[in-house]
Amino acid sequence: MKIGIAGGTGGMGEGFALRWCQKHDVIVGSRDAQKARDAAENYTRTAKQTYGNIAGSISGNDNISFTNDIDVLILSIPYEFIDDTCGKLTGKLRDDCIVVSPIVPMARTEAGFVYIPLEQGKEQAAEMVADKLPPRSRVVSAFHTISESKLKNLQQSLDADTFICGDDQNVIAKLKNLVDEISGLRPLYLGPLALAYQAEILTPMVLNAAKRNKLKNPGVKLV
Ligand SMILES: NC(=O)c1ccc[n+]([C@@H]2O[C@H](COP(=O)([O-])OP(=O)(O)OC[C@H]3O[C@@H](n4cnc5c(N)ncnc54)[C@H](OP(=O)(O)O)[C@@H]3O)[C@@H](O)[C@H]2O)c1
Repeated sequence: MKIGIAGGTGGMGEGFALRWCQKHDVIVGSRDAQKARDAAENYTRTAKQTYGNIAGSISGNDNISFTNDIDVLILSIPYEFIDDTCGKLTGKLRDDCIVVSPIVPMARTEAGFVYIPLEQGKEQAAEMVADKLPPRSRVVSAFHTISESKLKNLQQSLDADTFICGDDQNVIAKLKNLVDEISGLRPLYLGPLALAYQAEILTPMVLNAAKRNKLKNPGVKLV
């Protein structure tokens, strides 16, 4: 598959690229094409050091140029920039391209980390993405409680669950396959996209508990 990662120069983007390049052609996206190419070179070096040869590849480009030629788009950008970034992608994706939101709308307050839609009455991230990049059926959400440092650490099995939301079972099945390729990560279907807030809201909760109990990069697992 061809997997494009908008905002792929960030920590999560690096983790996704390193995990999926074993089998897939990953294109790291950035607002700046040269920054994306530099990141792709670094990730490729890391991947080859770890895996030896890789069956897939990692390349870099600006967030927009590769969008008409990918099977999956990971929107690995902060919540604040959904509108702007998706606006630039409108009409550019193939009709069958799956769009994945790992986006957590989160802010820091005196009390701790909080979920922006609850605090500020704004939309949940996955709904915002679906509004901007129709059809809604292609949008799925996952990976909200996966820490970037664990995702990037290829020696580490994640030993965690991730909750998937989406409206189309074929799209969900494809995302589940991608999740299964990440060592130790179990995909759990949570429900339609309208429930994505239940996964998004877990992240500020986990971070508050981690900080106050000195836990390093904890994840979530149903037992
Ligand atoms: N970090 C985690 O552990 C974690 C865990 C679970 C979920 N998430 C979610 O996953 C997503 C990515 O996380 P991250 O930590 O990798 O994010 P990040 O490092 O804060 O940002 C990712 C990329 O977004 C791009 N970006 C920054 N400002 C932008 C703007 N104004 N417009 C468009 N793009 C912009 C940057 O790429 P360029 O400068 O190259 O364009 C940046 O490298 C976020 O939505 C986050 O909530 C993160």
